[in-house]
Amino acid sequence: KIEDGLAGVNVLITAGPTREAIDPVRFLSNHSSGKMGYAIAKAASQAGANVTLVSGPVSLQTPTDVNRVDVSSASDMHKAVMSHVSDCDIFIGCAAVADYRPVNVGEQKIKKDNNELTLTFTKNPDILADVAKLDHAPFTVGFAAETQNVRDYALKKLKAKRLNMIAANDVSNKDIGFDSDKNALSVFWNNGEEHLAIADKEQLAFSLIELITKKYKSN
Ligand code: C5P
Repeated sequence: KIEDGLAGVNVLITAGPTREAIDPVRFLSNHSSGKMGYAIAKAASQAGANVTLVSGPVSLQTPTDVNRVDVSSASDMHKAVMSHVSDCDIFIGCAAVADYRPVNVGEQKIKKDNNELTLTFTKNPDILADVAKLDHAPFTVGFAAETQNVRDYALKKLKAKRLNMIAANDVSNKDIGFDSDKNALSVFWNNGEEHLAIADKEQLAFSLIELITKKYKSN
């Protein structure tokens, strides 16, 4: 169902993985495909929103009428989000941001001279939490990928990161999540929840945008 529910509303979305450099030719990343974030960007755009999509490296086509900003590392993504957030009404953090990055990034390729290699990591900024704690924070929606106690962890995250809404998926279920075309979401907000049954990510994105629109407008 496509309505003009978000006409004139500015929506900022993060999607995909991040890449954390180890040296000039190597990085650490994860299996995020970006499919869910891109589907959400498409659904928001079709609902009439002005959509900016801050994207990690993925092999997906940019949805029609979506302004895509390409980034690589979590720090790049943080910078890009902070520079676009001021006129944003709704922020949806869908990216699988790396929690840590290597402390020292060699200027030269690391040679295989030793039998062991130790890397030291430092924590990346939490983009979602930083957006939610801004003075004029947008309506902020986060994601949570959990393998157990989905409801408990999602509700804790909702509070800890001061979000308006959180969409949780159970990544222990092999049929859904990461690289799959399907997903299912449990969505929580203060004093309410709704469960969106397993469906194509495109279909699910429309249901989620509908729910976000409803809650954003009654906020
Ligand atoms: O705490 P956790 O990583 O499980 O939270 C997931 C949510 O936080 C997702 O919405 C993700 O996009 C966001 N996140 C972020 N920056 C980080 C880590 C997670 O925006 N450094």
